[in-house]
Amino acid sequence: MSKKNLLSGVKPTGTAHIGNYFGAMKQFVDLQNSGNYQCHFMIADYHALNLIQDKEQMKNLTLELALDYLAIGLDPKKSVLFKQSDVSAHTELAWIFDTLVTMPYLMRAHAFKDAEAKDKEINVGTFNYPVLMAADILLYNTDVVPVGQDQKQHVEYARDIAQKFNHVFKTETFKLPEDLILKDVAVIPGIDGRKMSKSYNNIIPLFASREEITKAVMSIVTDSGSDIPANVYAIHKLFKTEAELKPLYDANKGRYKALKDALIEDIDAFIQPMRERRAKLAQSPKKVHKILAKGAKMAKKIADEKLTATKQAIGVL
Ligand code: TYM
Repeated sequence: MSKKNLLSGVKPTGTAHIGNYFGAMKQFVDLQNSGNYQCHFMIADYHALNLIQDKEQMKNLTLELALDYLAIGLDPKKSVLFKQSDVSAHTELAWIFDTLVTMPYLMRAHAFKDAEAKDKEINVGTFNYPVLMAADILLYNTDVVPVGQDQKQHVEYARDIAQKFNHVFKTETFKLPEDLILKDVAVIPGIDGRKMSKSYNNIIPLFASREEITKAVMSIVTDSGSDIPANVYAIHKLFKTEAELKPLYDANKGRYKALKDALIEDIDAFIQPMRERRAKLAQSPKKVHKILAKGAKMAKKIADEKLTATKQAIGVL
């Protein structure tokens, strides 16, 4: 049986958090190791450029995310790991799609509406974000895109754009991708109960030190009055099964401090091996750059082939 194609990505805009991990990155590793997919995992640095407009910061955050990928278990022998900006077909295809996509359609995007609500002066890159993301996905004949719930609409946009292109140019150049979102982890809550997000300042970093874990857990907002602090429990069940948690929560009704202490232990025990692997990898940044360069070569080969087919379909080649 031929393998299905899988692509996903993360933006290097700051510290990866356990929302990224349980919502998406853990699935990257599980799907890679299932052996059923040809996997492509991208560092979406051109998407990050909407926010990160500082040379050193961009370099650092990109390396950090590459380290994260490797530390969680993404394996360059099994998956193509690459940086978006290394494969120019992404931006070139995005332009071709720009000529098909209408402004009212992009104005319906949740991310655009949120950005606009915060700041009227948003840049064109933020507005066009879903178009570049459609190019990311469609260049690799992608069947599945593992993501968290907040990216669902973006995958729908990629499908719509593929369909529109195929229809307008009477071709079957693009495959229609599907999202892969696991219900239980579609939206991981942060320490305030809202979706965990860098922009809400409510994260638990994925590679947090014991002190950082303690600080974050101690600031989990607890709603006094109930036996079980909902925000603590919601995070706790990422690390232990509900059956494992039951005796702990039964024995500690209303004792929020004891429950938080137990959560700190469980997060720390879970993160420790990954943290150690990451620290080791961080000693050889050259190796990491080499992995990305090799991944870029492999990605480029696939993407350039699709771009050529696209250029033929539109009549410029
Ligand atoms: P990004 O960098 O914001 O997030 C990376 C992944 O983490 C998931 N995620 C969450 N899942 C559950 N609960 C949360 N609280 C949570 N926070 C983040 C996101 O859903 C995502 O899957 N646009 C993408 C990057 C991207 C991409 C792509 C993804 C660019 N091109 C092509 C897939 C395919 C983004 O901003 O993810």
